Amino acid sequence: MALKEKVLAYLEANRGASVSGEELAVLFGVSRTAVWKAISALKAEGHLIDAGTNRGYTLALNSDVLTHSGILSYLSSPQDTYCIEVHQTIGSTNQYAKELAAKGAPHGTVIVAASQTQGRGRLGRCFTSPPGGIYFSFLLRPALTAEKGLCFTTAACVGVCNAIEQTTGIIPAIKWVNDIYVNDKKVCGILTEAATNFETGTLEYVIVGIGVNFATPSAYFEGELAEIATSLYPDEPAPFSRNQIAAALIENVGKALQQPESPHIMAAYKQKSFLPGRMVQVCSTSISTDAGRTALVNSIDDAGRLLVTYQDDGSTAALSSGEVRLRLTASKKK
Ligand code: BTN
Repeated sequence: MALKEKVLAYLEANRGASVSGEELAVLFGVSRTAVWKAISALKAEGHLIDAGTNRGYTLALNSDVLTHSGILSYLSSPQDTYCIEVHQTIGSTNQYAKELAAKGAPHGTVIVAASQTQGRGRLGRCFTSPPGGIYFSFLLRPALTAEKGLCFTTAACVGVCNAIEQTTGIIPAIKWVNDIYVNDKKVCGILTEAATNFETGTLEYVIVGIGVNFATPSAYFEGELAEIATSLYPDEPAPFSRNQIAAALIENVGKALQQPESPHIMAAYKQKSFLPGRMVQVCSTSISTDAGRTALVNSIDDAGRLLVTYQDDGSTAALSSGEVRLRLTASKKK
């Protein structure tokens, strides 16, 4: 860990308290000038550090900037596991990751942003990405064929749930196929995109894009959106920094994406899924006005398909992710 990351980690552990340059210099075996340079670099990144003469350094209680050094300071895996780039604002982390992939960026590249101006969702929709959220994309170069694509979304869902649970204590649930819910409202969406080599049928690269509504104020969720979306900490300050949850997300999602086809991943996905037992409206993705058919969700099979029974004629179907939009109906199966 570079000195800057070590200093930030120490200041975060002593948030609000003054830490002297001498203490930091002794702790990390460097000169006070080196400490001062590290502090200057952290301030340039936007961290609110008070550094008055003879008063030491104090990280403000409300300092919560998503930064490269901040995320690194919370990663427990070796630094070179991921190649992380952090932006305060970007068009779309998925789009940017695609551009990097085309230029040969390596497996394990992670693009993180504090806001997006052109966030993309599934089925060509926009994904509103205001400050307060955490938006990131993993670039992977797996040795798998194209039809395995769904397993990356499945693995990412499990990784996001584990990270949220580990960091916040909140137990989220998966809404098939790519959404994470808390209290029946969406807090995270996942968009997996890929490029295929047509000759070999293998995946050239996969981009797994994840948007987490972390501390997005509830005012951002207005009208219809307020009924279906929320954030983890909409109205009260989160009890930890966004760098901490970003690091947990990267590590947990990264771990799940290492073995996306593992039966453990599918087992965890099923265990965390809340649709089985519920009624849904199954609508066509191509007809936006389609009111859909009411169906009872029976289960999710090992291929990740949703097994349903239509209520109008009792017929059953195995739904694949690309074919349907789902609307939850209020009632749960008794
Ligand atoms: C959905 O809910 O439809 C999927 C939303 C996926 C949003 C994430 S945010 C990070 C990454 N960059 C994007 O432009 N989209 C994904």
